[in-house]
Amino acid sequence: MKVFVFVGTSLDGFIARVNGAFDFLPPGGGEPHGYDEFMATVDALVIGRKTFETVLSFDAWPYGDTPVFVLSTRPLASAPVGAVVERLSGAPARIAAKLTALGIRHAYVDGGITIQRFLQAGLIQRLIITRVPVLIGTGIPLFGQVRRDIALKHVATRQYASGLVQSEYLVATKSLRGMRTKADGTKRKEAARKRRVAAAGRG
Ligand SMILES: NC(=O)c1ccc[n+]([C@@H]2O[C@H](COP(=O)([O-])OP(=O)(O)OC[C@H]3O[C@@H](n4cnc5c(N)ncnc54)[C@H](OP(=O)(O)O)[C@@H]3O)[C@@H](O)[C@H]2O)c1
Repeated sequence: MKVFVFVGTSLDGFIARVNGAFDFLPPGGGEPHGYDEFMATVDALVIGRKTFETVLSFDAWPYGDTPVFVLSTRPLASAPVGAVVERLSGAPARIAAKLTALGIRHAYVDGGITIQRFLQAGLIQRLIITRVPVLIGTGIPLFGQVRRDIALKHVATRQYASGLVQSEYLVATKSLRGMRTKADGTKRKEAARKRRVAAAGRG
């Protein structure tokens, strides 16, 4: 299963104000920047409970009949008629395994804490981040502390007339990291072999 993030932030990296407001993002999503096209490729959403509660306050349910898995350790508020919502809880790897078993091939993960947990678990393959040209100083951050560096590969950056700047990154997967480790090991062995040869030559 592919797991992608598509998110808007202030230039200083916040997805919402401390009180959850995102009035600093352009109304209605602003200038078209690929969201609708992205949504058309998504089989399901995985959103945090706080994002779900924000979405419930919208005038209309934005996800149509696309399944939305809301992560929470507690019962959820009611979703509007027609919304397809299920609560899940647990380690991101277990959640991803469950979605895969349900036949979901492309999931969209949203919500700051939720994104951070999936990233930490190595489950996100692609990040599409649209930065809005405003500094808000404090708020709910897109990213947080990491236990180890998470290497990214820049794919593209697009700029829009209204000032939006969208960058797309691939996240180095576990298998890529493993391959790098093997390559590093080969290099280390080769360096050791050369040192042995040089030492033998001196002897
Ligand atoms: N700018 C944007 O594009 C954008 C996008 C999305 C959201 N937002 C904003 O971001 C804010 C919400 O982000 P946030 O970081 O505060 O929270 P969040 O990620 O939306 O929700 C966090 C909550 O999700 C639940 N959760 C997450 N992972 C879980 C897991 N593995 N198992 C069980 N429960 C899990 C927990 O709920 P419980 O406490 O119920 O257990 C946790 O408190 C909102 O204001 C929203 O409007 C902005």
